[in-house]
Amino acid sequence: MSRRVATGVRGLDTMLAGGLLPGTAVLVEGAPGTGKTTLGLQFLWEGATHGEPGLYLTFEEFPEDLYRDAAGFGWDWRQLESEGRLRTVFTSPEIALADLTTPGSPLLQDIHTLGIRRVVIDSAAHFREITVDPVELRRHYRVAVNALKREGVTTLLLDEDNQWIGGLAQAPHGLSFVVDSVIVLRHVEIESGIRQALFILKQRGSAHEREIRQYHITARGLEVEAAFRGREGILTGSPRRSVAQRAVDAFG
Ligand SMILES: Nc1ncnc2c1ncn2[C@@H]1O[C@H](COP(=O)(O)OP(=O)(O)OP(=O)(O)O)[C@@H](O)[C@H]1O
Ligand SMILES: [Mg+2]
Repeated sequence: MSRRVATGVRGLDTMLAGGLLPGTAVLVEGAPGTGKTTLGLQFLWEGATHGEPGLYLTFEEFPEDLYRDAAGFGWDWRQLESEGRLRTVFTSPEIALADLTTPGSPLLQDIHTLGIRRVVIDSAAHFREITVDPVELRRHYRVAVNALKREGVTTLLLDEDNQWIGGLAQAPHGLSFVVDSVIVLRHVEIESGIRQALFILKQRGSAHEREIRQYHITARGLEVEAAFRGREGILTGSPRRSVAQRAVDAFG
C-alpha cells in the first residue's frame, strides 16, 4: 500500500483505507456548522505536529477567529505559526488564484520556504464570487487544483452545501469532478435531534468504506463513530427505522 496522509480524525483514516493519498485534492462538502473548518484545522494540526507543515488559506474567517476556534480544541495555532510549522493567509479568491499560478509569488514562496505539505482552502464557495459562468468557474477550480498538485501538497477544499438537512444534488460547477476525493458531511434529523453523518463519495486510486457513519464534534475535534444501524434514508436528512429494525422493535 502506498504511503497515506493521516487526517487526524479518529475513524476517518480507516474509512479512507489508511488515509488520503499524498498530493491529492479532496473536497469536503457540508452544510453550515457540520464541522468543515474544524476538520480543516484538525488536518493541518495533525500534519504540523508530525513533521508536515500546513497552510490555511481562508477567504472567510479572520486569522484571529481561526486562532480562537483552534484554541477551543486545545490547538495553539499561533505557537506553531511562530515555529514556521503552520501559516494562515487571509486573502481573496482572485489573489489566491493569481498567486498560485505566478512563479515567485509570496504564497508560493511561503509554500517553498516553509516546506508546506498540506493546504486547506476555506472555502471553495468563494470562487463562485469571481464568475457566475459554470464553465469558467470549473476552469478556475482546475487551475487552482493543478497548481497545488504541482507543489505536491495534499489539499482539502472546503465547500458549502446550501441545504441544511439532507440533499445530494450535484452543483452545476462540478467541483466534485475536478477533485480526487469527496468527503460529505450532513446534518440528519433523528428523534427531534440533529446528528451528523459522514460518508466518502469517492476516492480516486484507492478503496474506501461505503458506509454512512455518524460523527461528533468533541473537545478534540471530529470523531467518527459507528454507522447508523437500523435506519435507512439517512441521506434524505430525516431517516426512518429500517424494515429489519421495525421487525426487531415489534417482535424482539
Ligand atoms: N471546542 C468545541 N467543542 C465542541 N464542539 C465544538 C467546538 N467548537 C465548535 N464546535 C462545534 O462545531 C460546530 C461548527 O464547526 P465549524 O465551524 O467547523 O463548522 P463549519 O462547517 O465550518 O461551519 P460554517 O459553514 O459556518 O463555516 C459548532 O456549531 C459546534 O457545534
Ligand atoms: Mg467554516
